[in-house]
Amino acid sequence: MYLNREEEKILDGEKGEVPERLFRLLVRLGEIYGADKMIPIGSVQVAGVSYKSIGDPGTEFLEDMASKNTKVKVLTYLNPAGMDLENWENLGFPKDFAKNQLRIMNAFKKMGIVVTSTCTPYLAGNLPRFREHIAWSESSAVSFSNSVIGARTNREGGPSALAAAICGVTPNYGLHLWENRQPDYKIKVEADLEFNSDFGALGHIVGKEVKNKIPYYTGIKNGDTDQLKSLGAAMAASGAVAIYHVENLTPEADNVKKTNLETITVEQKDIDNAYEELSSGKKPDIVILGCPHASLKEIARLADKVKGKKLKKPVWICTSRMVKEAAERMGYNDTIVKAGGNIVADTCMVVSPIEQMGYKTTGVNSGKAANYLPGFCKQKVCFNNIDKLVEGQL
Ligand code: F3S
Repeated sequence: MYLNREEEKILDGEKGEVPERLFRLLVRLGEIYGADKMIPIGSVQVAGVSYKSIGDPGTEFLEDMASKNTKVKVLTYLNPAGMDLENWENLGFPKDFAKNQLRIMNAFKKMGIVVTSTCTPYLAGNLPRFREHIAWSESSAVSFSNSVIGARTNREGGPSALAAAICGVTPNYGLHLWENRQPDYKIKVEADLEFNSDFGALGHIVGKEVKNKIPYYTGIKNGDTDQLKSLGAAMAASGAVAIYHVENLTPEADNVKKTNLETITVEQKDIDNAYEELSSGKKPDIVILGCPHASLKEIARLADKVKGKKLKKPVWICTSRMVKEAAERMGYNDTIVKAGGNIVADTCMVVSPIEQMGYKTTGVNSGKAANYLPGFCKQKVCFNNIDKLVEGQL
């Protein structure tokens, strides 16, 4: 693997112990995957932020790095943390958990990482451009940036993303290369997709079929940003899809090679079956929307649904701090809180300790959350569209 003089110096330890250690990790990765060189990156998104995921060993590792004056070289955002960093007490997050989560955030901040925790950084001030090389971690964010934006990233692990942030480069392999972004399957959609959850159901079906391969969709007549983020998130959860293309909708769809693809057809009955397959509960104790983190449009829709009403059971919608602030200015937060709901920032249903907070059955409109909640949070799940979920809590 070719390294320039500056990179050789890092490897020789001239830039300090931490950069040397992390750069070695990137070189090793590059060697394993056959990279020819390192490439500069525009931004990073680091996963492994919740205390629930990384525990004491991860917290101590980050504090140790931060104490050695380690700083990131490029714009770096974080994946959701284990709690709302400002409103955790009101929402009932345990005190011990909060103390440890705040230690983690302080360590990241010391390293120059923007302590905004979201899996939709592209809605919150970290928007890469078409063909920009980046090093992002969270699977739905990776899928969205590769597929809908046309930026280029592999799915980084927490350590390799942190290494890329501190070194400013990533090895040139995998989805950074055009030849590896070509589809393997053609997915013919013969169903009407209306709600974000319909896209989540479709993604659930296709991810299971294609696993880590690349699908090319036809028959999706329309899909907004929220629906495409739902689709990608679900495919990354039931499979390991890191990029997809949609005819007439995503930026690389026209130019990829579409010959000799195996065809999978998805009909309305398959979508209906996916709703059933993902539902294991009867009545939710809590409904949590915003997986991936909600846009302002999704929050506006929830506010509209609950305006002037009283919720019998809690409804949360998870989002980034930036989008929550916009929702506060627009009065959506007041409307939702008056009805008995909450806009929860910085965290999500999967990485927060909802099982410790007494919830047993969660209602979601996300294929990804429906897939993860039973395993990660010991929840029964009611998977449905936003209208039905919210009506059920009134
Ligand atoms: Fe984001 Fe959490 Fe879903 S990280 S994609 S809201 S599981």
